[in-house]
Amino acid sequence: MSMPPVVVARDLVKKFEDLTAVDHIDFIIERGEIFGFLGPNGAGKSTAIRMIQCVSPVTSGKLEVLGMDVTEQPREIKRRVGVAPQDNNLDPDFSVLQNLTSYARYFDIPRAEATRRAENLLEFMQLTEKQDTKIEQLSGGMKRRLIVARALINDPDLLILDEPTTGLDPQARHLIWERIRQLRKEDKTIILTTHYMDEAEQLCDRLVIMERGKFLVEGAPKELIQKVVGECVMEVIELDDGAAETYLRNTGLQVERSADRLYVYSEECRTIEQEFRHRHPNASSVVRPATLEDVFLKLTGRRLRE
Ligand SMILES: Nc1ncnc2c1ncn2[C@@H]1O[C@H](COP(=O)(O)OP(=O)(O)O)[C@@H](O)[C@H]1O
Ligand SMILES: [Mg+2]
Repeated sequence: MSMPPVVVARDLVKKFEDLTAVDHIDFIIERGEIFGFLGPNGAGKSTAIRMIQCVSPVTSGKLEVLGMDVTEQPREIKRRVGVAPQDNNLDPDFSVLQNLTSYARYFDIPRAEATRRAENLLEFMQLTEKQDTKIEQLSGGMKRRLIVARALINDPDLLILDEPTTGLDPQARHLIWERIRQLRKEDKTIILTTHYMDEAEQLCDRLVIMERGKFLVEGAPKELIQKVVGECVMEVIELDDGAAETYLRNTGLQVERSADRLYVYSEECRTIEQEFRHRHPNASSVVRPATLEDVFLKLTGRRLRE
């Protein structure tokens, strides 16, 4: 028997007065996958997941989590979902360990069991040495790890991580990535939001890129890169006097500009680069594999310029 999806959204809408933060979206999240919501600040990522965690009522449409309707069984859903919110809401009056054990009370987890789970989770997130530390003495990376540990205290069927790595240094990010991969191996279903395209490309089985409440695309990272951009990109990293840009734009190719770089999206980019170098010896260019960042730039680049 196949398992029912973990989340099913149909024509989902969230309005805040005049603003439509989530604008008629449809998606299905299957059991055991890491599903990403990507997009710039204000795209509607947090709003979408706050509806899934039943803390923000839907304006219209249908939303089912773990086979239950969010309007009918919010309490049951909350018991089986773990959430690491975007903003740090750890309790500053408690130690690291107490933040976990006090949170366990919301789920009626008996005290001894709560302590056992909390200790295991601190170990898992490499925070054991900090268990008696006050929150204000933790680094940003430690706070994020503690928030992830706290989200796991009820052994949730669905784990929601809202920007778990924003603002962290590379080492702290990589530790969280590694733990997310570990959880996936344990067959947890995970929803991840991020505005880092590289993070999503590495972690997500499937993802959506959101902008202004709508999905621009949906799919597996590799498929999206292949479908939207292709194999490779020619990047012009040092422009000459502007002649290079004029030349490339006149070729009829899709050219995007981001700050002082040009990106040429074409299946023929190796051939194009040869010709380009010949004509513009003072510009500097490279052909590299396409990434999810290119998908985003290609889809939104024109709008960003307007
Ligand atoms: N409680 C709220 N009241 C009014 N507007 C809100 C509220 N929450 C979010 N918004 C607006 O909804 C839009 C989407 O926000 P959000 O979901 O937080 O985006 P993201 O998480 O992708 O950065 C933004 O324009 C934001 O200002
Ligand atoms: Mg957000």
